[in-house]
Amino acid sequence: MASIMLIAASLGAWVSCAAAYCDTYTALSGEFQSPNYPSKYWNSMRCNYTFDTGYPIIINCPEFVLQSRKGGLCKRDYFTINDAGTLTAFCGTTGPSNYVSTGSLVTAEFKSNKKIRKYGFNCTYESIVDTTTVETTTPQETTTQASALLTTATGLYNSNTCYTSQRSTCGCSVTYDDSEFYTTVLGDVRIVVANGIPGHVYEVGQENANPNNACPHEVYMAVPVNPVKGNTYVAYGMGPVGIATSGAFFYNHLSTPSGDTAVISEGESFDTCSGHSDMFCRYHYHMRPSCIAEAGSCTLVGYMRDGFSVYSSCLRDSGSDYLRSCYQDNGTGDGSHTSHYTFNQTAYDNGDCDLDMANGYTFSDDRGYAYIFTEDYPFIMTGYYGTELADICYLEDA
Ligand SMILES: *[C@@H]1O[C@H](CO)[C@@H](O)[C@H](O)[C@H]1NC(C)=O
Ligand SMILES: *[C@@H]1O[C@H](CO)[C@@H](O)[C@H](O)[C@H]1NC(C)=O
Ligand SMILES: *[C@@H]1O[C@H](CO)[C@@H](O)[C@H](O)[C@H]1NC(C)=O
Ligand SMILES: *[C@@H]1O[C@H](CO)[C@@H](O)[C@H](O)[C@H]1NC(C)=O
Repeated sequence: MASIMLIAASLGAWVSCAAAYCDTYTALSGEFQSPNYPSKYWNSMRCNYTFDTGYPIIINCPEFVLQSRKGGLCKRDYFTINDAGTLTAFCGTTGPSNYVSTGSLVTAEFKSNKKIRKYGFNCTYESIVDTTTVETTTPQETTTQASALLTTATGLYNSNTCYTSQRSTCGCSVTYDDSEFYTTVLGDVRIVVANGIPGHVYEVGQENANPNNACPHEVYMAVPVNPVKGNTYVAYGMGPVGIATSGAFFYNHLSTPSGDTAVISEGESFDTCSGHSDMFCRYHYHMRPSCIAEAGSCTLVGYMRDGFSVYSSCLRDSGSDYLRSCYQDNGTGDGSHTSHYTFNQTAYDNGDCDLDMANGYTFSDDRGYAYIFTEDYPFIMTGYYGTELADICYLEDA
């Protein structure tokens, strides 16, 4: 078989590899390798792996050596995982490490080019048989919610108490199963309660491991049910600026107060659900929470401190494009700093783009004014237009 492949490769044709190497895997766990492993893989190979265990899987490749990136991308030789349509490419010496799929049918493609051969990979996969690992917390909206957190929050709100002093709760032992998120409406106020633990897997699959972890931060915010939009844009500061329906926090678009953009400058520490924890062990997002809402799904994913709702990225009425930000790269840098972008007021006024300076948008239906995630800069809300800004209050004094 090997010699047939080598002949085909030398003729420049794409070669499918032997089933022994690129196969369909239905066992709950196992290992898989690049073709010809532990010897070097052949040139001009193309072959597919299918993992059909009936469950989401975790992939680990402790041994992984392909050709390096070219122009920042995996284009020479690569191993690309297709998880329900989301492609993640690996190359160089950085292979999948605790890669967690959301779907239960995962395919992957290995491709080599006509040049340099490397030793390839030796990987394992394991099914996540407890499927609750990928379930998300469903927003619960009721005035009779029997939740201790909600009862405490309502009591604090009624007694006009808000504890805001910062604390670290690191060193906890919790899982996504401990996630809590509730909202309730009391007259014209909406109480949003969460414990800071996301209802999905977290802190796995980062490109660069995050030294911080998610720990509980039991909080509430009391926001207007019908927030009023003012005419003035106000930028958000650092730290929590909203609460997601997953139970975790939204932060602004920055990783530093001096203007570094989080997605570009620290995106390597984001996990498979696009979040990470800060040094106080507060788990948060700087972009669309990918495990609770797909791109374009326009799902309600939380509330901001001014009371307006937040939706995941949405499609325009007219077509398949996403609602677009009016911030434009002004060519002064690599996009890693806010100074590399300018809000184009003319384009906004002309309707050439859709979202205001706070990523706000006025829907023509009941949703009214709301904030929207964008799939590119600024990704998340940089500020707000509401006329009142609620504090995020802890349920206990520090
Ligand atoms: C392998 O997967 C790729 C991408 O999904 C697909 O285009 C190709 O047809 C597949 N090849 C085989 C041999 O199944
Ligand atoms: C792959 O690595 C595992 C250890 O993680 C080892 O037991 C196995 O023999 C390796 N497979 C090959 C084909 O080298
Ligand atoms: C780029 O944007 C920044 C911040 O918006 C602005 O200060 C700067 O003048 C802009 N540069 C150009 C060339 O437009
Ligand atoms: C703003 O956007 C318009 C298109 O709506 C474009 O013609 C114009 O060049 C942009 N302005 C700047 C400063 O890039």
